[in-house]
Amino acid sequence: MANTSNGSVRTMDAAYHKLLDSDPRPIPESYRRDSPIEPGPTFVPVERYISREFHDLEVEKLWKRVWQMACHEDDMPDVGDYVPYDIAGMSFLVVRVAEDEFKAYYNACLHRGRKLRENRGKHLVELRCPFHGWCWNLDGTLREIPCQWDYPELKPEEQSLPEVKVGRWGRYIFINPDPNCEPFEDFIGDLSSHFELLPYERRYKEAHVAKIVRCNWKVASEAFMESYHVIATHPQILLGGAHDVDTKYDVFGNYSRAIRCGALESSGLPEWEPMPDDGRGRLRHPLNGYVYEARDDGLVQVTAPDGTTGVFNTNAQWIEGELGDVNPHLCNWVGGRQLPPSDMPPMPKPSGDDGVAKHPRVLMADMQREALRPIIGDLADQVADVEFSSVFFTLFPNFHPWGSFNRINYRFRPNGNNHEECIMECIYLAPIPDDGNYTPVSEIHWLGPDDDWMDAPELGMLSKVFNQDFRNLPYVQQGLHATAKEFLQLSDYNETKPRHFHMKLEEWLAKP
Ligand code: FES
Ligand SMILES: [Fe+2]
Repeated sequence: MANTSNGSVRTMDAAYHKLLDSDPRPIPESYRRDSPIEPGPTFVPVERYISREFHDLEVEKLWKRVWQMACHEDDMPDVGDYVPYDIAGMSFLVVRVAEDEFKAYYNACLHRGRKLRENRGKHLVELRCPFHGWCWNLDGTLREIPCQWDYPELKPEEQSLPEVKVGRWGRYIFINPDPNCEPFEDFIGDLSSHFELLPYERRYKEAHVAKIVRCNWKVASEAFMESYHVIATHPQILLGGAHDVDTKYDVFGNYSRAIRCGALESSGLPEWEPMPDDGRGRLRHPLNGYVYEARDDGLVQVTAPDGTTGVFNTNAQWIEGELGDVNPHLCNWVGGRQLPPSDMPPMPKPSGDDGVAKHPRVLMADMQREALRPIIGDLADQVADVEFSSVFFTLFPNFHPWGSFNRINYRFRPNGNNHEECIMECIYLAPIPDDGNYTPVSEIHWLGPDDDWMDAPELGMLSKVFNQDFRNLPYVQQGLHATAKEFLQLSDYNETKPRHFHMKLEEWLAKP
C-alpha cells in the first residue's frame, strides 16, 4: 500500500484568491472552490509500475469494474456506426443503435468467440460474425444463425449479445463491465459544474492522435497531472509565466483539478542580458542562463554565462567543447524538428498598447478573448483572466479533460496486457460553430513508440512539447526497474493529483 504520513501542506490558495479578486470580471463559482487533499507525503510502491501481478490485479479490480471513457459521439455520427474499445485484453463494441442511443456489447461472438469487429465501421444494419455468420440486430437480439437446425437445444431468446452499462458525459461514451456498478451520474459527480461556459456538449472532435509508449500507463498518466515537471522538462514555459509554485490543486470525489495561472508567487527569475535577435533558433534556460543555439549541421551549441561552450546532438550527447552536461529537453527544443512559424504562438511583450505595463498572463488573456469572440460573441468581455489558464482535470482512473477553453483531452490505458507499454491518446475538442456545421476527424492517427510527435502536426505546438515529455517516459520505466528503492515519493502539494490517483486506486484494489 502507498503510505501517507501526516504533514502540513502548503497550498497556493491565498495567492490564487488574491489574483481572482484583482480581476473586475465575474469569476465563475467553480474557480473559487477550494478542496485540498489531506496533507502528507506519499510513498508509492515501485512494483505498481513494473509487476505483471499488479497489472493482473488492476484488470480484475479496476478495469473490469470502473467507469471508463470508451469513445466519443463523433466516432459514430450515424445510426449503425460502431467503435471497438479495447482495454487490458478485453474488448467491447460500442454501437450507435438510434439517433440518441448507444449500446456496448462484449466484442465476442456467442458461437466460437471470434471478435465481432476489430476496427471501427459505419452503417451497420446487422451485426454478422465474419467466421460462420451468426448474426444479431443492432439492439443485440439474435437475428439469424446459419443452419440453426444443427442447434436443436438453442433458444434464440437466450442468444442476445451480452451488454455492458453505458454512461454519457459531454458527448463522450463511458462503459462499465460491472453489472453491479454505481450509477454513472454518482461516479462522475459534479464534474460538469467546471465546464459551464463552453460545455463539452458544444464541442466536436477536431484531432485524435494515439501513440504507443514504452512505459506503464500510470507512468504516462501521472506525467500529465502536475506542473512540477515543467521546471526541468519544459523550461521554455517558465518564460511564459509559469513558475515553481504556480499551480493550484484540488480534489473532488473521483476527479482532481489543476489550475496553472502563470502568475503565482516565485516570479523572480534571474535577469539576463537580451539575446541578439538574428533569426537563429536560440533559447536561454531561464534559470541557469545557458544559451542553446541550433547550428546548420543539426547540432546544438550551448554557451554558459561564463562563456564556456560545448556542442551536443539533439539528445544532449556531448560532441566537443569544455561544457559537458546540458539539458536534453532544450537541445531537442532548439535543434530538433521545428514547427512552421505560423504554429508558434506569439509571446506577448510585458506591456499593453496603452503603454501601461501588463503581466504576460493578462496580455495572453486579452489575445485569447479576441480569438474567442467569433465563438461566444461579446460574452468574451466577461470571461475572467483566470479562465484562460491551463486547467486540467483527471477523472479517475485515466481520463484527462482540460477545462476552460482548452481543447486538450487525454486518455491513458495499458497496451493490451503489456504492463510495460501504454497507449496515450490526445484528443482535441473544438467549439461547434453556431451554424452547427462541422466535420469531425474520422480516423485515429497512430504513432509508434519510436515516432516523433512532430509527425502529428495537427497537434500544433503541443507536438513539440510532447517530445520533451516523451524524452522522460521510457526512461522512467527503465529507472523503475533499475532503482534500489522500493518506493517513489510524491510531494505534499505539487503532486496532489498523483496522490489523489493512488488513494483512489487503493480504494478500488481494496474492494472485495
Ligand atoms: S465464431 Fe462467430 S459465427 Fe462462428
Ligand atoms: Fe509535460
